[in-house]
Amino acid sequence: MRAIRITRHGGPEVLSVREVPEPTPGVGEVLIRTVASSLNPVDWKTRAWDVGPELPATLGWDLAGVVTASNHPRHRPGDQVIAMSAQIATGRGTWAEQVCLPAGLLAAAPTTLALQDAAALPLAGVTALQALNRAAVTDGDNVLITGAAGAVGGIAVQLARHTGATVDALVSRPEHLDAARELGATGVWHLPADLPRRTYTAVLDTAGIDTGPALAPGGRYVSIADQPLPDIPGAAKSYVQENRDHLARLAALVDGGELRLRIAHRYPFHEVRSAHERFEAGGVLGKILLTF
Ligand SMILES: NC(=O)c1ccc[n+]([C@@H]2O[C@H](COP(=O)([O-])OP(=O)(O)OC[C@H]3O[C@@H](n4cnc5c(N)ncnc54)[C@H](OP(=O)(O)O)[C@@H]3O)[C@@H](O)[C@H]2O)c1
Repeated sequence: MRAIRITRHGGPEVLSVREVPEPTPGVGEVLIRTVASSLNPVDWKTRAWDVGPELPATLGWDLAGVVTASNHPRHRPGDQVIAMSAQIATGRGTWAEQVCLPAGLLAAAPTTLALQDAAALPLAGVTALQALNRAAVTDGDNVLITGAAGAVGGIAVQLARHTGATVDALVSRPEHLDAARELGATGVWHLPADLPRRTYTAVLDTAGIDTGPALAPGGRYVSIADQPLPDIPGAAKSYVQENRDHLARLAALVDGGELRLRIAHRYPFHEVRSAHERFEAGGVLGKILLTF
């Protein structure tokens, strides 16, 4: 079978499609035929920076696919599943025609959209859900989400609205203002200096921008970005954790029509270098899928 691997760190040119041995499921594991994955910033960072598992490594965190063999009673051949695999920590990359994962990472795919499109959900969705939980966002909150047109930000806007909170958004460019409004944001800005001051009971930063002045006294500030936290009492980082219950909850929200996934581009997996180039150029509204 073929997998997208790197043998060294660098630009998109270090990505190559290689013939590798087919994986065999161990105890409690499930073998999945990959239908699609998606690109996340961690993928280009793992490619470009000296981070992640020993090389050679297969990249990829998101997975939508069909079970072909199972050593766990919850899953049977033919099941349509999604998963988030923390590749950087475990080395279990999903950019391969077949992927073996512990059953504890798998949730049933949403049934109301094409299985391929469900690959847009796992990492971005679980990150958004866990970061909002970390910020303890509830219906009484007035929330600011930065990077709101991005993958995590776009899902976070919808999830925060679903809790009943009021949500405002900061995006990177004027042409993304409407996208944030369509996701449910009320006030939408593209210049941090224009944000109202001392207003928000919670801020979720997905873009690495210090919006501390917009936080109300006593408000909660959570960041998922690489940048250091601003000097705000209680400010915290949220790091995504594998969690099938969270995935299942997100899939249910998709099926209930309460969470919309946005797909910007689809690339066959052998065009992975072009997919990375498009992603790193920025300005993408929605996920970039890799199809298998
Ligand atoms: N801590 C964790 O566990 C965790 C998990 C997932 C992701 N992350 C990190 O979180 C970040 C966002 O991930 P993602 O998947 O949502 O990425 P994404 O889809 O690329 O979205 C990032 C968004 O932020 C926007 N942006 C960039 N600079 C901005 C600025 N100055 N003001 C407002 N918006 C700005 C981008 O706009 P343009 O495209 O126009 O630049 C884009 O819309 C990445 O750094 C990623 O590595 C962390």
